[in-house]
Amino acid sequence: MRKILVAGNWKLNGSLADTEKLIGGVLAGMDQVQAADVAVCPPYPYLAQAQGLLAGSAVSLGAQDVSDQVSGAFTGEVSAPMLKEFGCRYVIVGHSERRALYCEDDEFTARKFAAAQAGGLTPILCVGETLEEREQDITESVVARQLDAVIALSGVEALENAVIAYEPVWAIGTGKTATPEQAQAVHEFIRGRVAGLNAGVAEKVQILYGGSVKPDNAVELFGKPDIDGGLIGGASLKAEDFLGICTAANQ
Ligand code: 13P
Repeated sequence: MRKILVAGNWKLNGSLADTEKLIGGVLAGMDQVQAADVAVCPPYPYLAQAQGLLAGSAVSLGAQDVSDQVSGAFTGEVSAPMLKEFGCRYVIVGHSERRALYCEDDEFTARKFAAAQAGGLTPILCVGETLEEREQDITESVVARQLDAVIALSGVEALENAVIAYEPVWAIGTGKTATPEQAQAVHEFIRGRVAGLNAGVAEKVQILYGGSVKPDNAVELFGKPDIDGGLIGGASLKAEDFLGICTAANQ
């Protein structure tokens, strides 16, 4: 049985005060969260603070992005070993906002994925189609292309120490979530593609759904056989909502 993972992607939100309040609120409710692994991904400057607040707790820390480089003349970059030093277990790579707004393509994302693993982090690889691509009925080929770039560089076995997040771009921040059936269909496709290369890895890899997950739709989503949790944006910024999603995994 794969465990449910609920990860909060705070995106470009927060402050020292917000980080303290939000993490405090999440930790206060963690006794109700029995079935899920939980992680939070604050912006870089708050990682050290979050590391301190989370010390000794069951909540893991993640970052939202990572450099494909380890060190050197790469102004503005943050490397996997640096994130590791601040207690990160996870790092998100290839989020659709990075792909669309910062021109990060499949190959660049694959290099970030490899750099994350080389630095001892578990990458959360985001894949997903735009509304236009869904309407053109090319969702599967888009997701396959995004996944295949990583497999081509790192090998399918690399997915054993990774998490995949299916995030349809049209469902992110729109309040328009994919139906559990729509999400399950793509998750099944992803797992099937991995299984075609290595059945053991496919059985183990957690595939999260992301896109307007809320406490009231999480139970149904997480109930689907190939949905192993969620990558949560907006609802991860309120402790009560985030905990509501984490406890959905109990059912
Ligand atoms: P929302 O939950 O705000 O739709 O964001 C999803 C997301 O992009 C998580 O990475």
